[in-house]
Amino acid sequence: MKLTHDLSVDFCGKHFINPFSIAASPPSDRRERIERAFEAGWAGAVFKTTSVEEEPVHLAYPIMSACAGRGLNAYGNIDLISERHINEICSDTRYLKERYPDRILIGSIMARNRGEWELLVHELEEAGIDMIECSMSCPQGDGSGVIPVTDPGMTKEVTGWIRDARRKDTPIIVKLTPMVANLTEIALAAKEGGADAVCAIDSVHGYCGIDLDTMLPKLSVGGKSTYCGISGPAVKPVALACVSELARTVGLPVAGVGGISTWEDAAEFLLLGAGTLQLCTAVMRNGFGIIAKLLHGLDGYMQEKGFERVSDMVGKCLDTFEDHEKLDRSAKRTAVRNPELCIGCGKCCTACQNNGYGAIRMEGKQPVINPDQCRGCGFCTLACPEEGCLTIQET
Ligand SMILES: Cc1cc2nc3c(=O)[nH]c(=O)nc-3n(C[C@H](O)[C@H](O)[C@H](O)COP(=O)(O)O)c2cc1C
Repeated sequence: MKLTHDLSVDFCGKHFINPFSIAASPPSDRRERIERAFEAGWAGAVFKTTSVEEEPVHLAYPIMSACAGRGLNAYGNIDLISERHINEICSDTRYLKERYPDRILIGSIMARNRGEWELLVHELEEAGIDMIECSMSCPQGDGSGVIPVTDPGMTKEVTGWIRDARRKDTPIIVKLTPMVANLTEIALAAKEGGADAVCAIDSVHGYCGIDLDTMLPKLSVGGKSTYCGISGPAVKPVALACVSELARTVGLPVAGVGGISTWEDAAEFLLLGAGTLQLCTAVMRNGFGIIAKLLHGLDGYMQEKGFERVSDMVGKCLDTFEDHEKLDRSAKRTAVRNPELCIGCGKCCTACQNNGYGAIRMEGKQPVINPDQCRGCGFCTLACPEEGCLTIQET
């Protein structure tokens, strides 16, 4: 089925045929995988983070586990950067750029000192990379669970080294972790250092859990485990908070990543300020073919809402943000029940009696809301199993 819209976006002067790229991750760690991604319709790929030839990368297996159980929404990984060093990534870059000149290749780099950062930038530019993403945000793998760069001074300095190392105008993206007290401060430091864009978020520092039968870690490496990076749908709210904060405060384009699995997720990221999108876990679970649904879904939404270009969506909902103290307290709000949807389970009543204002009582199988007592806290809507049965309305 043909798309009705041109879904292309321009990001830092680069033309993406659509907003969707593969994030730095195992699906972007081999040229043949990126080839398959491009054949399927992905606009770009961020290579899995690479390093200088001398940097040892010793992986521990298994690398990834579901945090709670199969099919659930959080995944934890103890992956490291790529075992493939800069020379292989440059060889892949040359190969892919020749065959897919209309797709965007982003080199993701991590280094231990200024000389290494500079070398990585030189090599990537020489190979014809389109953009460079600086991985300063990985939550695992340094042995202590401590994030390498959460310091504004270091962020500015390292970004400056990378920027100064450039011999071409290759745009620099700084990838950020949400695990900082003040994200805007770190992003502004990256901007001062010369970043052209920021990317949020990397996976979130976490722990997969304990299997209660075996009493072993859910991500067990011979019975032991360590802290991991959480990804997948569970991190989406964290990513949306970061992306929207950055879009509102920093004045740089934002690449949105973290928990995007469907076109609806993608649309939310765009509306909250992401100029381009990256996916990892959804691709790892469901394959490169999900791009077709992402494109068609987004295309249909644009048709429905009257957006001509993807760029018209970017940041469209940022003006819905308000400081907590300025949120409207003047209107009277109450829970309203749709009797046609109500199954009489009484869960709303339990929630209201335990958490809310005691405004709902059961008359037989019928919940009855006392509007004078109800203050519209919304807890009943969460307890109700029937979507749309209880809503909070201004009265
Ligand atoms: C197995 C795995 C490996 C990853 N490797 C990298 C990496 O090398 N460099 C990097 O910047 N991010 C890496 N990430 C983080 C992803 O690029 C992405 O930021 C994160 O997973 C959140 O997106 P998602 O919810 O779509 O997976 C990795 C994630 C996973 C799950």
